[in-house]
Amino acid sequence: MEIRFEKRAVLKEKPDFEHLGFGKYFTDYMFVMNYDDHHWHDARIIPYAPIHMDPASMVLHYAQETFEGLKAYKTSQGEILLFRPEMNARRMMNSNQRLCMPLIPEKDFVEAIEALVRIEKDWIPSKKGTSLYIRPFMFASEAGVGVHASESYQFVIIASPSASYYKNGLEPVKIYVEDEYVRAVIGGTGNVKCGGNYASSIIAQSKAKKLGYDQVLWLDGIERKYVEEVGTMNVMFVIDGSVYTAPLTGSILPGVTRDSILHILKDQHIEVKEEKLDIDFLMEAAQEGRLSEAFGCGTAALITPIGELLYKDQNVIINDHKIGQITHLLYDTLSSIQWGEAEDIYGWTRRVK
Ligand code: COI
Repeated sequence: MEIRFEKRAVLKEKPDFEHLGFGKYFTDYMFVMNYDDHHWHDARIIPYAPIHMDPASMVLHYAQETFEGLKAYKTSQGEILLFRPEMNARRMMNSNQRLCMPLIPEKDFVEAIEALVRIEKDWIPSKKGTSLYIRPFMFASEAGVGVHASESYQFVIIASPSASYYKNGLEPVKIYVEDEYVRAVIGGTGNVKCGGNYASSIIAQSKAKKLGYDQVLWLDGIERKYVEEVGTMNVMFVIDGSVYTAPLTGSILPGVTRDSILHILKDQHIEVKEEKLDIDFLMEAAQEGRLSEAFGCGTAALITPIGELLYKDQNVIINDHKIGQITHLLYDTLSSIQWGEAEDIYGWTRRVK
């Protein structure tokens, strides 16, 4: 793919890498490519700037939009690593298929990310726990208010030097189990990464915040009984020594971190139960002291321990609000591969040269 580069006259001032937060600062450049007349064209890396769009752009009315999230890590030797970017490419194409949006060859998707990351290498923080968060997204840009698949799209990649998603890093978060609103049903868009899923989840997130909780745990949309995922991450529970997580039956997001963790658990000979987990069974296990650990996992969140659950009027504390042994092992194993501190026996990292 040919990528045109438009240099900016003056580079931005970089933020203090010791106090990055998550997704607050954006780099000097962005990748942009347009789709018209059934083909992608004009791939370019240009100065980061507002996007001009027609007020009738279809994304603004009917939410034809998909996105991804991945990270570039800087090792102590100064090498740049991407983590399984081809998984993001495949997931985005799966999302695009569901939303009747055009596909991008996996090779071009990864090449575009690598080209941007190469230019922005000085924006990648190197302290463990920090990285360059990369956000590819695509949206319908055709002007029109009739409901149909747009004929025009833009594919954009922006990047943000970031620290952990939750401000207290590995400190356990408090989760509110949502029993009024639902996130997804099988056949809907729960297993694709589109903005609409997040828009409809914000109301529950605000409710959780008001109650003093960090995030929402979603139950299935039909019986409101089976545990699905947390607002910004997949979720796993350690009960009687086995790790439980929801199966990929169509209503939860197939997380890249989730998949990586399942490989690591298998290699550690820790039993995984990828099956429907009844919320009553979970709360009972917690009350009987059999729920020893719980954690969320996602690209932004990496591995985030869960220290407390609130479901209806039952509140349970998990592992005394402390990070558990399996959670710790997973964090150490995964993060040391991502930051290039351990041998990558899985072949997950991709060096950007
Ligand atoms: C990610 O983990 O990369 C995500 O896209 C979640 C997002 C809501 C921060």
